Amino acid sequence: MTPIFLFSLLSAISTVGQSIVKPGSILTPTTSSPWLSPSGLYAFGFYKKGNGFAVGVFLARISQKTVVWTANRDNPPVSAEATLNFTSDGRLVLQSAQGAETSVANFSSASSASMLDTGNFVVYNSTNNTIWESFQNPTDTLLPTQRLYYDDVVDSSVSESNQSTGRFRAIMQQDKYLALYPLGTPYSIEYRYWSVGINAPKLNATLNLDKYGHLYLANASGIVTISGAGNSTKGSIYRLRMDDDGFLRLYSHVLDQNGNWSIIWSPTIDKCEPKGLCGLNAFCEDDGMVKIFIAHVFLDLHLLMRAKGLWAVKGISPQKVAKKA
Ligand SMILES: *[C@@H]1O[C@H](CO)[C@@H](O)[C@H](O)[C@H]1NC(C)=O
Ligand SMILES: *[C@@H]1O[C@H](CO)[C@@H](O)[C@H](O)[C@H]1NC(C)=O
Ligand SMILES: *[C@@H]1O[C@H](CO)[C@@H](O)[C@H](O)[C@H]1NC(C)=O
Ligand SMILES: *[C@@H]1O[C@H](CO)[C@@H](O)[C@H](O)[C@H]1NC(C)=O
Ligand SMILES: *[C@@H]1O[C@H](CO)[C@@H](O)[C@H](O)[C@H]1NC(C)=O
Ligand SMILES: *[C@@H]1O[C@H](CO)[C@@H](O)[C@H](O)[C@H]1NC(C)=O
Ligand SMILES: *[C@@H]1O[C@H](CO)[C@@H](O)[C@H](O)[C@H]1NC(C)=O
Ligand SMILES: *[C@@H]1O[C@H](CO)[C@@H](O)[C@H](O)[C@H]1NC(C)=O
Ligand SMILES: *[C@@H]1O[C@H](CO)[C@@H](O)[C@H](O)[C@H]1NC(C)=O
Repeated sequence: MTPIFLFSLLSAISTVGQSIVKPGSILTPTTSSPWLSPSGLYAFGFYKKGNGFAVGVFLARISQKTVVWTANRDNPPVSAEATLNFTSDGRLVLQSAQGAETSVANFSSASSASMLDTGNFVVYNSTNNTIWESFQNPTDTLLPTQRLYYDDVVDSSVSESNQSTGRFRAIMQQDKYLALYPLGTPYSIEYRYWSVGINAPKLNATLNLDKYGHLYLANASGIVTISGAGNSTKGSIYRLRMDDDGFLRLYSHVLDQNGNWSIIWSPTIDKCEPKGLCGLNAFCEDDGMVKIFIAHVFLDLHLLMRAKGLWAVKGISPQKVAKKA
């Protein structure tokens, strides 16, 4: 057991409910343990990527290692000789064996940092104000209590084992729609392949996931449910991820069982005939879009044929997009 690990354990014990990391702390890929949240559920530190390591936040207490945030996701993996330094002047830098420095997150003059049990890695200044948090800089995953505000995005990863930026984006738009696009395409109806919206003043809708697995859009006074709360089973954890095949999926996992993540929600994009979705309280348009009106929710579904054409033009495999898990 390394001094760093001991340090964070001791801190966890001495500061009710928080594991405080102080400047001067370092982490290495193979010779130190990551900075754990108080319950040990989440960890901040190195994890294996390709033939090297990346820095991020991952679930440490379940057998299936799950990465929920990655620093500098598009940088190549680092070697086992790299160190992560929380420098005495309050920066978090990754130093390669050759001495090259990369900032892990954009802040300076931090006084402490903490891996919280929510999965949020938070950095504080000397008056204990939050100056940086992983929850405000998501990569492909949204965790319970984390929020997407307008213009916030989650971008898919290349694959399950490579968290570099992939090909799809979910964005909480200013117009109050949560929408999915192939990454790099304009935010317009032609490219959008799924969306859900809420009535709200411009800029004031958020995407929320609560600890019961309830996924919803919220305005100042109400919500639109995307997926209802999960089973009341104690110890279930949830995560929403923009997956590498373009599907946004909500997963649940029962803690203390060696099970896998199960998918409890994902948008209905390919399986259903768009025509079949038009029932009562619904109307169809013959412009390549099907709009289903349910109370204040609009679901916009592209006809697959049209999407296929566009994605083919963009060089994105429609089979990949349409493939259901
Ligand atoms: C991850 O994916 C990126 C983009 O496709 C690629 O450049 C990189 O080499 C991959 N990294 C690993 C470790 O496979
Ligand atoms: C990072 O930590 C290593 C090991 O303690 C040390 O050699 C190096 O000088 C540190 N780098 C910075 C920028 O603090
Ligand atoms: C870091 O933050 C500063 C000030 O907020 C900003 O100007 C700069 O572009 C940021 N750099 C990165 C890499 O995000
Ligand atoms: C900041 O928080 C730590 C731990 O919670 C506490 O010990 C310290 O007194 C706080 N500092 C200030 C300036 O509030
Ligand atoms: C800490 O951050 C808060 C919020 O950004 C700021 O108001 C406060 O002045 C900062 N404290 C110090 C000592 O810089
Ligand atoms: C907020 O959303 C609720 C639920 O959809 C809706 O009833 C309400 O009118 C919305 N509020 C505003 C100000 O648009
Ligand atoms: C946005 O929502 C917040 C509460 O979520 C509310 O306090 C604020 O007044 C709202 N802003 C607008 C412009 O409606
Ligand atoms: C509830 O539990 C059942 C059986 O374990 C499972 O199939 C289902 O996906 C769960 N639903 C949610 C929303 O977690
Ligand atoms: C979990 O998934 C892995 C890989 O897909 C599989 O090999 C394993 O049998 C699964 N375990 C359970 C308990 O379903």
